[in-house]
Amino acid sequence: MKILFYDTKEYDRASFDRQLPAYPDITIDYLKTDLAPATAKLAKGYDAVCAFVSSDIGTKTIDELHQCGISLILMRCAGFNNVDLKQAAAYGIKVLRVPGYSPEAVAEHAMALALAVNRKLHKAYVKVRENDFSLNGLLGFNFHQKTAGIVGTGKIGAAMAKICHGFGMKVLAYDVYHNPELDFAEYVSLDELLKRSDLISLHCPLTDDTYHLINRDTIQKMKDGVILVNTSRGGLVKTQDLVEGIRARKFFGVGLDVYEEETKNVFEDRSDEILENSTTARLLSFPNVMITSHQGFFTQEALAAISQTTLDNAVTFLKGGTTENEVKA
Ligand code: NAI
Repeated sequence: MKILFYDTKEYDRASFDRQLPAYPDITIDYLKTDLAPATAKLAKGYDAVCAFVSSDIGTKTIDELHQCGISLILMRCAGFNNVDLKQAAAYGIKVLRVPGYSPEAVAEHAMALALAVNRKLHKAYVKVRENDFSLNGLLGFNFHQKTAGIVGTGKIGAAMAKICHGFGMKVLAYDVYHNPELDFAEYVSLDELLKRSDLISLHCPLTDDTYHLINRDTIQKMKDGVILVNTSRGGLVKTQDLVEGIRARKFFGVGLDVYEEETKNVFEDRSDEILENSTTARLLSFPNVMITSHQGFFTQEALAAISQTTLDNAVTFLKGGTTENEVKA
């Protein structure tokens, strides 16, 4: 099986090349360019493509991939909101993903963001480097005995709930399904979670139901001085309303690993560019906001698990088998 990898970085190559000797039926070519309608044509002569979170795998791309004879899309990530599943199904193209490579990697990053904006580590780091050892502007609050609200208690949300529990926090949870592992958590309505939580962390997928889940209305229901963390998908939060909430002093801190405008930024060095119309720039202008660039998954353990599961998915497809890792329309 010949697989064309899109949007690959050095660390992807290193991680997949390390596993490849165990998969003699698979060969890989790596491209730096991302998958989009214009670059899909490059897949001619391959059996499968492998793509990532910021790839554009909408209707046009799928049409092109079908023309090229592609029968398999391997997503080397959990999310698949960027794939037109209906169009893929119409052509009989299978879409396989890596559902849970390291939930702890993302959950630990969510807590890192929560702690950073609480204890102002981003400011403290710069101050001390400038020989400013004063504590002005660094006052935080204890997480111990405060309330954490976890929205979405699947694999990552459950890992975050356990971390919060370990910090001595009361854990509230909201999900359409209750996770029996979390016997220490109290499942409540979204409204109640918003009202009672000191830290709100988002871990549900981006769907039609969850698009702009955090908006002017839901922000108003939150406690004053709340910390909001989003490591799930940017579209869960309506950025304009978040900016409005920050300006109204609603938030003690906001930590974002994902945000609506991220697609052009993710994993790119744009430090020489002037970003003219950027709400991200507006968000970054606030001292209580910390943004990281979709790095929640980025640990050694997660990269190893991603490459192994992606190649296992390819082998399952080759053998005509079925897997729970298939996503369907
Ligand atoms: P999961 O599928 O194990 O859990 C998602 C949970 O959300 C499920 O329990 C589901 O019932 C719940 N849910 C679905 N619709 C809901 C709704 N309308 N309201 C409340 N809950 C709802 O997924 P997992 O592995 O925990 O990942 C969660 C999200 O994290 C992914 O969808 C992805 O967007 C994001 N992610 C971010 C990464 C990063 O690097 N920042 C890396 C990996 C995933």
